[in-house]
Amino acid sequence: MSEPKKLFIKTYGCQMNVYDSERMAEALGGQGYVETKSPDDADMILLNTCHIREKAAEKVYSELGRFKGLKADKPDLKIGVAGCVAQAEGEEIMRRQPLVDLVVGPQSYHRLPEMEAKTRTGEKALDTDFPEEDKFEKLKNRPKAKRGPTAFLTVQEGCDKFCAFCVVPYTRGAEVSRPAGRIIREAQDLVERGVREITLLGQNVNAYHGAGPNGDMTLAGLIWELNKVDGLERIRFTTSHPNDMDDALIEAHGTCEKLMPYLHLPVQSGSDKILKRMNRSHTADSYLRLIERIREARPDILMSGDFIVGFPEETEEDFQATLDLVEEVKYGYAYSFKYSTRPGTPAAERPQVDADVADERLQRLQAMITRHQREIQDSMVGQTVNVLFEKPGRQAGQMVGKSEYLHAVHVSDPGLASGDLRKVRVVTSGANSLGGELV
Ligand code: SAH
Ligand code: SF4
Ligand code: F3S
Repeated sequence: MSEPKKLFIKTYGCQMNVYDSERMAEALGGQGYVETKSPDDADMILLNTCHIREKAAEKVYSELGRFKGLKADKPDLKIGVAGCVAQAEGEEIMRRQPLVDLVVGPQSYHRLPEMEAKTRTGEKALDTDFPEEDKFEKLKNRPKAKRGPTAFLTVQEGCDKFCAFCVVPYTRGAEVSRPAGRIIREAQDLVERGVREITLLGQNVNAYHGAGPNGDMTLAGLIWELNKVDGLERIRFTTSHPNDMDDALIEAHGTCEKLMPYLHLPVQSGSDKILKRMNRSHTADSYLRLIERIREARPDILMSGDFIVGFPEETEEDFQATLDLVEEVKYGYAYSFKYSTRPGTPAAERPQVDADVADERLQRLQAMITRHQREIQDSMVGQTVNVLFEKPGRQAGQMVGKSEYLHAVHVSDPGLASGDLRKVRVVTSGANSLGGELV
């Protein structure tokens, strides 16, 4: 028998790309590929890319340039670009970097096997369609390999919201939800393979409205169905839009035992003027009132969010409103980015904020976020949390896992194994993680 061909995939961007990379590896598994951790011995290199900010997209081209030597040594090596840069730039990638044999957009990766075969005949392959068929159904025949205790599961993809700064509606296309039955079956399959925690993914996951047995199901409905899956211990979901947080979903945070007390709910800015210009369709106040309701349902919930600073026409006063909002919410985690101009989006045409001013604002915001993050993490000391252990820690005999609030927790105990869900008393709070002992 011939040696299996080796596939190296590098993943950029959001969790959905992580999920997609797994599916692409499975699709190419049917073509005789096994994954390798190094590009050096690969027969095929795939970059699964992100287009969200300019830097993310530029990284792809510099990474591609580095494969020149590899391809010179091994002319049979095939190089592919997948993901959101592939969707946004298509043929432009092949023009800019002739090393590239294959370009596949996020909605077409179930066609990878045919595309790979085409490249083996010496042709280039490009597919950035938004096809009608269900790519997930086409990818059903998966190997039943054992898995780690946590997994992502895409339930919804795409976005119809068109925030003025964002490329996602263009790269991922219109909002589409997968039918509930297929999601439940995929969850059951994951659990049979060792998974105990599932994070439901969607660019607008709480807008989920997949076909169910009695008409469309909401995300809350889907979560309650997953709550019944034996052996599944934890459910999370990301990313949510404030406008799609319905009452049932808020209530589920208080009543659904497998739903974890963590919610990523990006607001982007605390200024109503900027929110309006971002086309966000919520105000700072409506967002704050929403969080109040969520905290009434689940007082200990840990909030996380995303912010953009230096959006076109943001004044010092607008930025101060963002700081005020952050001070009020106190996020356990928050991700903040300097506005990055994305060609083709409405905000790209507007008067830009000076780069130094934006840098300075970003630093101030990040300092505040870090302070809150640290205070919240430190406040866990003395509390008992549930930890799902995932992998060995840095020190010998140590295991690390996540609490229900998504804090990393280290415990040294020879009896611990990956997949164990145990009660832990938190004893220390370090730079980025907690330390504890089994109760
Ligand atoms: N669907 C998610 C966002 C996906 S993009 C949502 O609606 O919140 C992840 C984050 O990247 C966004 O929340 C935003 O904070 C940031 N982002 C998106 N476009 C950006 C841009 N042009 N410049 C800077 N940050 C951006
Ligand atoms: Fe982008 Fe999220 Fe806005 Fe959609 S809702 S356009 S994904 S930021
Ligand atoms: Fe990036 Fe595409 Fe995700 S642009 S953030 S990989 S949806």
